[in-house]
Amino acid sequence: MEQATNIQDIPVIELIRSAQEARKKAYVPYSGYAVGAAVLTRELRIYTGCNIENASYTPTICAERCAISKAVSEGSRKLKAIAVVGGSKEENGTQFAFPCGVCRQVMREFSDPDDFLVITAKDEREYRIYSLSQLLPESFGPDNLIEGGTK
Ligand code: THU
Repeated sequence: MEQATNIQDIPVIELIRSAQEARKKAYVPYSGYAVGAAVLTRELRIYTGCNIENASYTPTICAERCAISKAVSEGSRKLKAIAVVGGSKEENGTQFAFPCGVCRQVMREFSDPDDFLVITAKDEREYRIYSLSQLLPESFGPDNLIEGGTK
């Protein structure tokens, strides 16, 4: 059993700023809804992502899964927190963007849901923090299939 993360150990403002920076790269010609995300790994590294849309729609990837894919493909499978910022690309800080269900399930794959924080922010002064367990209760995850969870 790993030590639970203390909220003070999460660089909330740095994650929000990193997500805001990543959001500038969002490729959203179809929806015009730009999202940025920044994920914190157990090793305290930060990986960022933006949403990347596609003319064929289905291949669109959300910002959260873009960031998580970067972390996992660099070898980090234990994630601690994610910050998400999103809204119309013409506006900044007007709404709280919540991760879609698919992204919540992907977060579940690489975290302990009781010990993974989802930070949704309008800006670095106005944000809300949830545990993944709150956003994805009674979840299905790796430990249902693999003894001991993600390897
Ligand atoms: N989107 C994200 O990037 N993250 C979410 O959790 C929700 C939706 C993106 C996908 C698409 O490019 C646009 O927002 C509108 O759905």
